[in-house]
Amino acid sequence: SFTVVLKRKGKEFEVPAGRTIMEVLQENGVRVAYSCREGVCGTCETRVIEGEPDHKDKVLSERERASNKVIMICCSGARSSRLVLDI
Ligand code: FES
Repeated sequence: SFTVVLKRKGKEFEVPAGRTIMEVLQENGVRVAYSCREGVCGTCETRVIEGEPDHKDKVLSERERASNKVIMICCSGARSSRLVLDI
C-alpha cells in the first residue's frame, strides 16, 4: 500500500494493494475525470508533485514515464510510500 496526498485539497488517503488511486478517491467523494478506466484514453492524467509512480497505463511515452511528472490514476500506483498529486 501507499499514501496518496492531494496537495491542493489538503487530504491524504491510504491506497491498499489491489486498489487503484481512482477507486480510493471516488470512495472518499473526490471527483476525478475519467473515461476508459483501463489506462488507454489519457483522460485521468494527473500531475505528480512528489514521489515515484508505478506506471501501468498504455498512454505515456517512455520519456514521460521516466520524468515522474504525470500519472494515469485509473490504473497506475506508486513505487514510493507517498505520492503527492496536483489535485
Ligand atoms: Fe482512461 Fe485513465 S481513465 S487512462
